[in-house]
Amino acid sequence: MKIAVFGLGYVGMTAAACLARQGHEVMGVEVSDEKVAIVNAGKSPIAEPGLNELVGRAVRKGLLSATKDASRLLDDCAVAMVCVGTPSAPDGSHNMSFIVEVSRQIAQSIGPSRTRTLTVVFRSTMRPGTIEELVLPIFEDKLRDRIDLVELVYNPEFLRESVAIQDFFNPPKIVIGTKDGRRCAALDELNAKIEAPIFYTTYRAAEMTKFVDNSFHAVKVAFANEVGRVCDKLGISAVTVHKIFTSDTKLNISPYYLRPGGAFGGSCLPKDVRALQYIASDVGAHTHLLDSLLRSNDAHKNFLFENCLKGVPAGGQVLMLGLAFKENSDDLRESPNIDLARKFLQSSIRLSIYDPHVEPCTLLGQNLGYAFSNLPALRKLLISKSVAESELFDLVVDTRGWAKDMTLRTKWVIDVNTLS
Ligand SMILES: NC(=O)c1ccc[n+]([C@@H]2O[C@H](COP(=O)([O-])OP(=O)(O)OC[C@H]3O[C@@H](n4cnc5c(N)ncnc54)[C@H](O)[C@@H]3O)[C@@H](O)[C@H]2O)c1
Repeated sequence: MKIAVFGLGYVGMTAAACLARQGHEVMGVEVSDEKVAIVNAGKSPIAEPGLNELVGRAVRKGLLSATKDASRLLDDCAVAMVCVGTPSAPDGSHNMSFIVEVSRQIAQSIGPSRTRTLTVVFRSTMRPGTIEELVLPIFEDKLRDRIDLVELVYNPEFLRESVAIQDFFNPPKIVIGTKDGRRCAALDELNAKIEAPIFYTTYRAAEMTKFVDNSFHAVKVAFANEVGRVCDKLGISAVTVHKIFTSDTKLNISPYYLRPGGAFGGSCLPKDVRALQYIASDVGAHTHLLDSLLRSNDAHKNFLFENCLKGVPAGGQVLMLGLAFKENSDDLRESPNIDLARKFLQSSIRLSIYDPHVEPCTLLGQNLGYAFSNLPALRKLLISKSVAESELFDLVVDTRGWAKDMTLRTKWVIDVNTLS
C-alpha cells in the first residue's frame, strides 16, 4: 500500500519505518528540512532503540523517503496518516494548529482527477469532537460535493517511547473511530498481521479512550507514589506493599471497581480512605490524590442526584430500588443510596424505597444508628414489592438492576449502575 505519513516525530517516524518494514511504500511529509535530510540519508531524526536500523534498511530498499512538499504526493496514495504534534497551549488545551494546517494540506492535495477514496488516519491525541467539529469541516470546505473521496478515521497511538517499535507491532489494543463505528477496509488491511484486540467505535469514543488511558496512567503513578511516601514515612517497605498489591488481579489490578456507575460507599471504603488521609497528614506525606477521593465521590453523588431529578416534577413521586450499600446486604452504613434518598427528601420529592434485605426492626448496632440518624423516616419510606409494582411513580431509580425483573407500572427508569 502507498502511505503518506505527516509529521516525522516519535509517533510518525516509528509508524513510517514500521509500515515500510511491513512492505508498504511510505513517504514521510515533514516541515523540518533537517528531519527530511536525515531520513533521506537513511537515518532516524529521533533517538529510539532499533529505529536507525529500520529507517536505513527501508530507505536502501526504496520503501521510505521524506519530503517537505505533499502537493502531488497524495495522488496515488491509499492512506494519509497524520502524526503531527498537539502540544499544550498556554491555557492547557491542545494547540490544534498543526492538525488544522495538515488537514488543509491534505484536503488541498486531493486533485480533480482523483476518483479513489483516500483514507485519512489521525493518530495524534486530540480532544473528543475534533474529527467532527474541526477536521471534517476543513475537508467539507475544500471538497464540497466530493467529500466522499475521503474517509476520515481516528486511530489513537498507544506506543511508549523507548519500546516504540515493539509496541507498534504488539500494541495493547487497536482503537478505530469511524463514521458511525463502521469498519475501515484500509485499516483492516494495515492491521491484518497485528495481533491485538481491535475496537471499532465512534470518533468521539475513540478520541476519549486516549485521554482516559493517559489520565489513568497518571492516576496510577500518583497513587503508587502517594502510597510510597506514606510507607516511607512509616518505615514500611513500599516495594513489598506494591508487590502484594499488584499480585491481586481479582480486585486490584482488574476491571473491578473501574466501571462508571454508582458512587463508592459502605462501611469500609470511606472510613479507611479518611483514616489513611489522617495518617498521611500526620506523617506529612502530602497525599493530594488521596485527599481528593471523598470530594470526588461527593461530586459524583451530586451528579447522580441531578441526573435523577431531571424531569421529576416538583413534589413528584420517586421509587428507589435498593437502599443498602450492596445487593443481598442490609448494611446501610455510608450507603450512597442513603445520601440519594436524603437529597430527594430535601427536594420535597415524595419518596418510596423498595429493598427486601432492609428490615428496620432487625437492624442492630452502628448500622441501626447510622440508618436512623441519616434517614429518620426509614420505616415509613420502605414499601413492599407488590406496592412498588402497583403504584405509578414519576421515576424509578434503580440502584441494583432489579427493574427488568419487576412488573413496574412506571416506564421511566434510571439505572444508576450504568448511568443510563
Ligand atoms: N510521543 C509519544 O510517546 C506519543 C505516544 C502516543 C501518542 N502521541 C501523540 O502523537 C502526536 C505526535 O507526537 P510526537 O511525540 O510524535 O510529536 P513530535 O513533536 O515529536 O512530532 C511531530 C512532528 O510533526 C511535524 N509537523 C508539524 N506540522 C507539520 C505539518 N504541517 N506537516 C508535516 N509535519 C509537521 C513536526 O515538525 C514534528 O516533527 C501527539 O498528538 C502526541 O500527543 C505521542
